[in-house]
Formats: sequence, structure tokens, C-alpha cells
Amino acid sequence: MSEAEAVRTLKINILRFDPNDPDDFPHMQTFEIQESAGMTLYIVLNEIREHHDNALMFDFVCRAGICGSCSMLINGRPGLACRTLTSKMDANITLAPLPLFELIKDLSIHTGKWMRGLSERLETWIHEQEQTRDIDMLEERMEPALADEIYELDRCIECGCCVAGCGTIQMRPDFVGAVGLNKIARYHLDPRDKRSEEEYYKLIGDENGVFGCMTLLGCEDVCPKDLPLRSKIAYLRRMMLKVAL
Ligand code: SF4
Ligand code: F3S
Ligand code: FES
Repeated sequence: MSEAEAVRTLKINILRFDPNDPDDFPHMQTFEIQESAGMTLYIVLNEIREHHDNALMFDFVCRAGICGSCSMLINGRPGLACRTLTSKMDANITLAPLPLFELIKDLSIHTGKWMRGLSERLETWIHEQEQTRDIDMLEERMEPALADEIYELDRCIECGCCVAGCGTIQMRPDFVGAVGLNKIARYHLDPRDKRSEEEYYKLIGDENGVFGCMTLLGCEDVCPKDLPLRSKIAYLRRMMLKVAL
């Protein structure tokens, strides 16, 4: 923002609610904040907490789009507060917690609990072949292109934006979502994971897995890491169809 430009007053409307307080109810609260150069929603929320209401709850760890904890609905669209510049927005901004996840309070939600349940359900770890492991044994060499492809999918920060942006999960709560399918695509690509196609089929070969996805593509639209979710879901569907037929 140049000095010549007038400083804007931002109107920040926040959905407030403490589900643990029996006297509380969901309501909107508006705060007025003077915009500053390079301001992100993360900075806005800290200003509110420091100068207006120290009871406001929201999550953050890294402030750099890495930890995934500051995800929320920003003007109705899932996104990361720490990566959203106010200069790119209208002065009237509405913030709400991501839907579908357990609400802790205000903008703070329990994505970690949901993601942990998903990881346990999909067994998102390398399944090696049963063998006596020789500690001096070198790991099999992986082609750099394949390592890059796996790394690309490993960039998921478990923010939950794709879950909140998916209409299928609204109708089918056990659907694993794009985040779950991305994880399975990642392990299926990994040559160190020795699970058979049939074992993968048991995990995602039904309507709560890859056949539940209705290709709504909201997941790819809102993923802050720009993961190639659409192509990986298509790849998994082809793979699972081969097992089914
Ligand atoms: Fe977030 Fe994208 Fe991972 Fe979904 S796939 S949890 S939107 S980083
Ligand atoms: Fe949902 Fe993405 Fe499929 S939005 S329906 S997981 S393409
Ligand atoms: Fe870590 Fe925003 S605070 S992603």
C-alpha cells in the first residue's frame, strides 16, 4: 500500500460460538481494524485478540502456509488466514470456522482429530514386506522423477480445506475426501509400500472411497497447496476399476 493511498478500515465479521458454554449461541460480531501494508488475516486476528477481545479463539502455528492450522471459511470459501492478504479483498470480510470438523470455539476447529482418524482408517504409513530386516541393508534406489511425484503429494498440510469444500462429504460423512484419496495415491506410488491392489481396494474401493467422489472438484479449487487432486482421483478410480472388473 503506498503512502498516497488512503488507509482502509476493515470490517471483520466473525462467527462466534463456544459449544462448551451452555449460555452461548452462534452469533456474528464485527470488529473494525485499520489496514496496514502486507496485512494478512492472521495479522488481523491477532490485532483483534490483542486490542479488542482477548477471548477470540483461532489456530495458528507457522504463519507461513505450512502447518495447516489456520484454515477457515473466508467470505464463505475455505482458505488459510496466514496466506490471505487483505489488500486483495473487499473491506468487508466475513470469517467462520470450517464446517464438518469438531468446533472448539470461534474459528478454532479440531482438524487434527479428524485427520488422525483418517490416517488410522487408511493406514497411511509404509507397509513393508514381512522380513527380518538387516540393519545394514540399503534402501532400494528410487528414480528421482518418482521421488518428486511422491514429494508433490506429500506437500499436503492436512488443513481440511478440501474436506470443507466437498459437497459429497456433506451427504456422506464417512467419505474419505480428497485428502484421504491423495494419501492413498501417495502410498500406492511408493515402491516401498508392498500392499497389493486388493488391499488398497478394501480401503477405498467403495462409496466412502474413490467411487463416492462425484468429481465436484471443489477440493482442487480450494487446496492452498495446489495439489493435483483431480488427476490423482482419476488415477485411483482407474486402478480400482481394474481390481473390481
Ligand atoms: Fe489441505 Fe490440499 Fe491437503 Fe486437502 S489436499 S488437506 S486442501 S493441503
Ligand atoms: Fe469432493 Fe473433490 Fe470428489 S470436491 S466429490 S473429492 S472431486
Ligand atoms: Fe500455519 Fe497458517 S498458521 S498454515
